[in-house]
Amino acid sequence: MRVLTLYPGDREERALAGLYLDDLPAKGGHPFLYANFLASLDGRIALRNANGRKGVPEAIANNRDWRLYTELLVQADAVLTTGRHAEALATGEQTDMIAIAHDRYPDLRRYRRSRGLSEHPVCIVVTSRFAFPADALKKAHPGAILTIGPHLDAAKRRAAHKAGIETVSLDSGTQVTGKDLIAALAARGLRRVYMVGGPRLFRGLLADKIVHRLYLTTACRLLAGEQDTDTLVQGPVLPLPPEATLRRLALDLDGRPQQILASYDLTSY
Ligand SMILES: NC(=O)c1ccc[n+]([C@@H]2O[C@H](COP(=O)([O-])OP(=O)(O)OC[C@H]3O[C@@H](n4cnc5c(N)ncnc54)[C@H](OP(=O)(O)O)[C@@H]3O)[C@@H](O)[C@H]2O)c1
Repeated sequence: MRVLTLYPGDREERALAGLYLDDLPAKGGHPFLYANFLASLDGRIALRNANGRKGVPEAIANNRDWRLYTELLVQADAVLTTGRHAEALATGEQTDMIAIAHDRYPDLRRYRRSRGLSEHPVCIVVTSRFAFPADALKKAHPGAILTIGPHLDAAKRRAAHKAGIETVSLDSGTQVTGKDLIAALAARGLRRVYMVGGPRLFRGLLADKIVHRLYLTTACRLLAGEQDTDTLVQGPVLPLPPEATLRRLALDLDGRPQQILASYDLTSY
């Protein structure tokens, strides 16, 4: 698997493996949030696939992107995801990528271990409904789990704790804010946080200006789709649109679809 690096600096052909390793800033005093998406050339990140389930479009999912996704995963203290994703894991509709990453890429497991990180990143689930069975989620996910959301009723809280899941219940509101999240992350010393949730969570985090970096793989296929499609960011127009500054650009040379591998630093104006 080869890529052509295009920016910054001169063009250079190199292995795809390792492209995203050691690409994050040194850990500082505050959580650093980085998001990653795979999108089609027309911006679709999810649609209803032939199996009737909504998810990453089958026409663009591929092993090269999966490798880069995993390189970002193994550097994380925590992975941030959604209640919808937790539900899909708990019901077996989706396999936990954390669970299979190490088997698939032993070199990345060694990389994680050599940096003295825990076996798996902490999985942080942002949810207002908590509509998944806690015990099934715990069975599906090999590492520590923390949920964050509005006040949980006693039965759900008990079930979560019995399953070994930590819960953070907010005092007010139904939506988790960036401030809530940063407080939960900082209290647990979680510094590198990999956002793998979808476009509604991403929008909220952007609105609260807590995302520092975006990794975006654009798979050069045009998909269209009207109902049940998602783009990168969904929800009301952002009043203060974050600005993305290109920091690295590469072209994935092997296989089809061709892919543009970009990363951006995000700032607000
Ligand atoms: N191509 C890609 O790179 C990529 C990446 C990620 C996701 N996807 C796809 O995108 C689609 C949508 O993903 P998704 O549903 O996980 O993403 P989402 O639209 O961001 O998440 C929606 C769910 O997350 C919870 N949530 C989000 N923000 C919240 C907040 N501020 N406070 C409380 N709860 C919040 C809620 O869970 P509850 O309902 O539990 O309250 C909500 O139902 C899926 O088909 C997925 O496969 C694609």
